[in-house]
Amino acid sequence: MDATVLDRIAALRIVPVVVVDGADEGARLADALVAGGLPVAEITLRLPGALDALRAVAAEQPDVLVGAGTVVTADQVDEVVEAGAKFLVSPGTFEPVVRRAHELGVPILPGVATASDVMRALDLGVRVVKLFPASIAGGPAAIKALSAPFGQVRFMPTGGVNAANLHDYLDLPSVIAAGGSWMVERPLVTAGDWAEITRRTAQAVALAAPRSTTTEG
Ligand code: 3PG
Repeated sequence: MDATVLDRIAALRIVPVVVVDGADEGARLADALVAGGLPVAEITLRLPGALDALRAVAAEQPDVLVGAGTVVTADQVDEVVEAGAKFLVSPGTFEPVVRRAHELGVPILPGVATASDVMRALDLGVRVVKLFPASIAGGPAAIKALSAPFGQVRFMPTGGVNAANLHDYLDLPSVIAAGGSWMVERPLVTAGDWAEITRRTAQAVALAAPRSTTTEG
């Protein structure tokens, strides 16, 4: 497992969950994220051109930490790693997917929603998981509750995270980052509204910055 990739995710605090189709969309989206100060993207395998988008960003924008999302089969692990994915995200914890990612030495954040899921992930050697769908699975309260028996586990909540509740998650010590699509919503991509994506991204980056710890009075 490449600790430096997870360290970078922890430093960036937000992972945009991206739905793009083709190399051009991928490159433009990545440009918009970089312009907003967030050089990371989880490109989900949801559209036919997702792999091309991933390949283009990995090849042409080396400063962007590009990962693959919605990875649900072991064959997809091979495909996205070959395309240049530096980290993998899956909606669930499926042993063939996790094992293949580990064989290839690429960090994977498998999805969990229950204590049993966390136990399965731990058994597979995973220490950083995606809580999914975070808002349905109990939100910040679920992370707090799961962190009691599983103090060694770190979470990337995803699903229902937005600018309004971001800090409810990021304030938790067991949360390394939050994933979400609110700054890269698909209609913005199809409309080519890269400026709005950059605006929302910059807003998210500002929100994710550590809160001031100055004490007054
Ligand atoms: C997803 O799978 O699409 C992610 O969990 C993003 O969820 P969101 O659209 O609620 O941010």
